[in-house]
Amino acid sequence: MPLRSLIFAWTGLLLASASAAESAQQPSPRPWTSRSISADQRAHLLVAAMTLDEKIALLHTKIGTPFQGHPKPDGALNSAGYGPGIARLGIPPLEETDAGLGLANPVSQPFDATALPCGLAIGASFDPALARSGGAMIAAEAKIHGFNVMLAGGANLIRDPRNGRNFEYVSEDPLLTGVVAGAMIAGVQSQGLISTVKHFAVNAQETGRVVLSSDIGEAAAREADLLAFEIAIERGAPFSVMTGYNRINSEFAAQNAFLINRVLKQDWHFKGWVMSDWGGTHSTEASALAGLDQESGDDLDPGPYFAGPLKAAVEAGRVPQARIDDMVFRILRAEIQAGIFDHPPSPGGTFDAAADAEVAEKIERQGIVLLKNDRAMLPLDPTLKRVLVIGEHADFGVLSGGGSSQVVPLGALRMEGDPPGRFFGKPKLYDPSSPLEAVKRELPDATVSFVDGHDIPAATRAARDADVVLIFAEQWMNESRDAPSLALPKNQEPLIAAVAAANPKTVVILETGGPVTMPWLSAVPAVLEAWYPGSRGGEAIAAILFGHADPSGRLPLTFPRGENQLPRSVIRDADSTTANPGEALKGAMFGIDYNIEGADVGYKWFARTHQPPLFPFGFGLSYTHFTTSAARVRRDRGRVTVQFRVTNTGSRDGIDTPQVYVESTKNLFTRRLAGWSRVSLEPGKSRTVSVSIDPRLLARFDVKRHGWHITRGIYVFSVRPDATGAGPETGIRLGDRNLPP
Ligand code: BGC
Repeated sequence: MPLRSLIFAWTGLLLASASAAESAQQPSPRPWTSRSISADQRAHLLVAAMTLDEKIALLHTKIGTPFQGHPKPDGALNSAGYGPGIARLGIPPLEETDAGLGLANPVSQPFDATALPCGLAIGASFDPALARSGGAMIAAEAKIHGFNVMLAGGANLIRDPRNGRNFEYVSEDPLLTGVVAGAMIAGVQSQGLISTVKHFAVNAQETGRVVLSSDIGEAAAREADLLAFEIAIERGAPFSVMTGYNRINSEFAAQNAFLINRVLKQDWHFKGWVMSDWGGTHSTEASALAGLDQESGDDLDPGPYFAGPLKAAVEAGRVPQARIDDMVFRILRAEIQAGIFDHPPSPGGTFDAAADAEVAEKIERQGIVLLKNDRAMLPLDPTLKRVLVIGEHADFGVLSGGGSSQVVPLGALRMEGDPPGRFFGKPKLYDPSSPLEAVKRELPDATVSFVDGHDIPAATRAARDADVVLIFAEQWMNESRDAPSLALPKNQEPLIAAVAAANPKTVVILETGGPVTMPWLSAVPAVLEAWYPGSRGGEAIAAILFGHADPSGRLPLTFPRGENQLPRSVIRDADSTTANPGEALKGAMFGIDYNIEGADVGYKWFARTHQPPLFPFGFGLSYTHFTTSAARVRRDRGRVTVQFRVTNTGSRDGIDTPQVYVESTKNLFTRRLAGWSRVSLEPGKSRTVSVSIDPRLLARFDVKRHGWHITRGIYVFSVRPDATGAGPETGIRLGDRNLPP
C-alpha cells in the first residue's frame, strides 16, 4: 500500500475509534432502542422519557375509518382502530384491524383478503394446529397491509345457541374454546403482531349487549367462561385483552375491578394491556382504577374518557401517576416484545392467495360435521347422471356471518336489503366459492341443474327428475342481533320437507351460525353442517360430499330439539333493548341469570336436566367406523394421563376424535370434557394415544380458599364418541389437593 494511503487509512481508523469512544461515553439519545436490554427495561426508559400529554395520547384510540361524521384519523389505514404513535420517541402508531376470521375490511374499501371458515368450523376441527395455521395466515395478510394489532381471539363461551356472534366463537366447552382460541392467537402472534383475546367476559348474547348484566356466581364463572379465557391466555399469550360491552354482576366489563385487576392481572399474572371494546368505556377514574389500560373507539363515547378527563384526574391525584405509568408501560412493553416497535409493519407486498385459500379449505374440510348418513347415502356416487342443487345463491357462493369480523373477499356477493344488524347495518354477504360449480367439476358427464328454492312447487318438480338433490339451507347471523329462534328462517323448512317428499335421496347442507332445529330430519337420509364455510367453502363441501376427505368435524356445541330445552327458552325481545354502544348509558338495564345453568353450560346442562338433545356436543359421523378400547389411567409426572386404543374397523381411511370425559363418584360436578385426540387411521389399523388431563378439570373453584381444589375420591374417565355416547371407562383415586387460582 502506498504511504499516502496508509496515512489516510490510519487517520480514518483513529477518527473512527475516537467517535466510537465518544459515543461509548455519551448516553444514547434513545437508550430504549437498544436490543441488548430487556423489554421491561426498554419500556421503563420510554415511560421515563415521556410527558404526561404523550402518555395520555397512548391511552385512547379512535375508529380508524370515517364513522358517523368523524373523518378517518390521519395515518389510519381505514380499519377498526387507530392509536397515534409518538414520532419523537420512535413509538409506532397502533393500526388495529378485526381479524377473528380473516382480515376484516370495511365493505366500502375491501382489502384483498382470504375468509376463513367461521369460528365454529375451526372449533369443530378440534385441531389446535389447524387453528394456529389459520391465525398465522390472517396475520401474514394483515402485515402486508401495515396492521400491527389484530382484534382476534374470540374466546367467549357459547351459553346460548341463538347468540348472534356464536359463529365468531369456538364452542360451549371451556377446554375446547381455550385450546383452539389460544392456538389461533399464537398463530397470529407468530407473525410478529399483537393479538387480543376478547370479549372478556361472559359476553354471551347480542340482544341488549351494552346494557345487560351477566349475573353469575364466582365459582361458576371460574369453572366455565373464565376458564376458557384462562386457557386461551396461557396457550396463546396474547399481548392484549379486550373487555366486553356487557356488565358482569352489574358492573361494566371495562370498569370491573374483580375481572380485570383481580382475576386477570392478579390471579393470572397477565402482563399485557387491557383495552375496552369500541365504545365500551363508561368512566374515567373508575375504569382506570379497575385496571382498564386503554379506551378503544373513543369516538363512540361522550368523552373521550381517557383523554382530557384522565389527564385532569392524574393532575388532581384522583388517579395515581403510578397507575398511568403502568398503563403506558404495559402497552409499550407489549409493542417491544411483539416486535412491532423494532419492526413496524408497513404496507407493501403481496400474499400467496392460492396458498391462503388452501388454508381456508383445509379448515373447512376438517370443520364440516356429518350429522346423518342413512343407508350410506354419502359419499356420493361419481357416476351420478342427474343432480339438482337447490339453495339461496348456491350457484354463486357460500354464506358468511355479519358484523365487525366480516371479511370481504374480492368478488363477494353483497345482498343489500336483507335485515341488517341493529348496529352493524352491513349487507349479507356470500363468499365467491360456488358449490354448484364445485359439484359440476366432480360430475363432468352429469346434468347438474340449479334452482334457488324460492318457488317450492318448481323446486319439487325439479327434484322428482333428479337422482340426488343437494339442498343448501342457511341461517344468517350477525353481530348485534341474536337469532329470533332456532328454526331455519324464511321458507326453508317447508322447502326441505316438500323436496324430501318428492325425492327421498335428498341431502341437506347447512350453512348456519349455530344449531338449528330440524323438523324435516326423519325425511332426509343425510345432513352436513358446513357452518360459514369461508373462501373455499364450495370446494370443501364438494370434497366431503364426494368422499375426497373423511368428514372429521365434531360438534363444538349441542344441537337442541327446541328452545324449551334451553336454560332460558326465550331471549328478551330484541326490539326493546339496544345493542348500540353509543346508547349504553341511556338504555334500560336488565340482568340475565346465568346462575340457572352456572358452570353447566351446553352439554352439561343437558346432562344435568336429563334431556336428550337433537345432536350432542362432540357428535359427528365418519365414512368409516372406529372403536376405542383398553382405557387406562395413570399418573405421569404429576399429571393424570388417560391412555386408550383407537381402531379403524371400517373399510376407508378416516379420522376419529375420541373424547375423554371425567366424572367424580361423589358427583362433585357434571360430566366434563377433559381432553381428546384426533387420530387419522387407515382401515384395520390401530393406535394407542395418551391424553394428559389439566388438573383444573378435576377440581372445583373454591371461592373461600381462593383457588382450585381437588377433593379426595374416585374420578372416572370415559372415552366417548361424543358427550352422550358410550365408551370404555377407567378410574383413579386422587387425594385432596389445592391448586392456585
Ligand atoms: C366488536 C369487537 C370489534 C370492535 C372493533 C366491536 O363492535 O364487539 O369485537 O373488535 O367492534 O371493530
